[in-house]
Amino acid sequence: MAVSGVLTDTQKQICDLARAFAAEHIAPHAARWDAEQRFPREVVARLGGLGFLGMLVPEDYDGLGLDMVTYLLALEEIAAADASIAVSVAVHNSLPTQMLLRHGTEAQKERFLRPMARGERLGAFALSEAEAGSDAAALRAQAVWDGTHWVLGGAKAWVSNGATADLVVTMVRTDREGDRRGARGIGAFIVPTDAPGYRPGKPENKMGLRASNTVAVTLDDVRLSPEHLLGEAGSGFIYAMEALDNGRLGVSAQACGIARAALEHARRYVTQRSQFGSPIATFEGVQFKVADMATRLAAAEALMLDAARRADAGEPATRWAAMAKLFASETAMWVTTQAVQLFGGYGYMRDYPVERLMRDAKATEIYEGTSEVQRVVIARELLSLT
Ligand code: CAA
Repeated sequence: MAVSGVLTDTQKQICDLARAFAAEHIAPHAARWDAEQRFPREVVARLGGLGFLGMLVPEDYDGLGLDMVTYLLALEEIAAADASIAVSVAVHNSLPTQMLLRHGTEAQKERFLRPMARGERLGAFALSEAEAGSDAAALRAQAVWDGTHWVLGGAKAWVSNGATADLVVTMVRTDREGDRRGARGIGAFIVPTDAPGYRPGKPENKMGLRASNTVAVTLDDVRLSPEHLLGEAGSGFIYAMEALDNGRLGVSAQACGIARAALEHARRYVTQRSQFGSPIATFEGVQFKVADMATRLAAAEALMLDAARRADAGEPATRWAAMAKLFASETAMWVTTQAVQLFGGYGYMRDYPVERLMRDAKATEIYEGTSEVQRVVIARELLSLT
């Protein structure tokens, strides 16, 4: 990556490990997994064995205890090989593990976080519903306290890892009919996927990220003991929003990885492809495209790292995470579109990698908050509208 000159030894080692693993065990298979729409759980398990499923979890809980900068650099390496694998790893690291770390009791950390950090259990995050996407606080799934247990009912949508995870941190309403409390009436529950009544749908047939598992989930009277509630019963939406600050940084790393892969493919291709008697890299129109692709990618990486350093310094990072995601995901879409253009007719064929990158890039403008939601988050803070 462009900033390698300023990395610490630990950052370089983690990046090297991620890059080497991705080059050997992920990149060679990415096109096939995409075509077969197959989530390679075994590869994610091997990443877990190396510590990549506990990147932000302190060593006291069996994680690697990395800072945000190192985490994002590693994620970018994985995404450059296969963005689908990166989604799975990022959702697990950024969302459920972080919510458990921040808001879990010691008992919850022992029971749920520790095995997740060791890579023995995969996590997911369920916030969206069919009628509550950008307007996430409008969700309707309901938890009812029956005196001894919480009973969860309703339906969640677009849950990454939803059919492959071992547990899903799930946001459902805890307020009651007649006493609705909006964003303050939502709890975050740790839902084991083997709990009776947890029913994942069939994998969504997506444009891109086809090797990552995304499903709708029905909660059919899922009975949970009180130790499955994270923190306060009315604070789950706030916890989810905090976690999404990390999640959005993770998406920026995925987007940078996708853009970097597209730039690398394009660079190689334009030096090899000849038309009108010369390699197309000798044409100024092609050179300008490549120069712009590299410049935008470097700017996206710089913004991502700036946001990560703020998060590591304990500064409020909401706006910066939104900016990093917004800029990196739009960069990924633009860079991959240019790459397809540079490949010409070949770029449009499934036999070449750039069309997959373009399809994968599109998702980064949508999930964990659309580009429009990121603009809302940024503008609200700048204009003091919150
Ligand atoms: N950190 C901490 N608290 C936050 C916060 C943050 N980043 N953002 C908001 N909050 C708090 C607010 O301070 C407020 O708290 P109070 O009750 O104390 O005032 C509360 O949360 C409600 O906030 P808002 O009034 O701003 O809520 P809103 O309903 O107006 O929504 C929104 C704002 C930015 C549009 C938000 O709904 C949003 O981010 N929507 C997009 C949701 C999203 O990203 N979904 C992705 C789901 S995951 C996915 O894609 C798939 C997957 O598997 C990973």
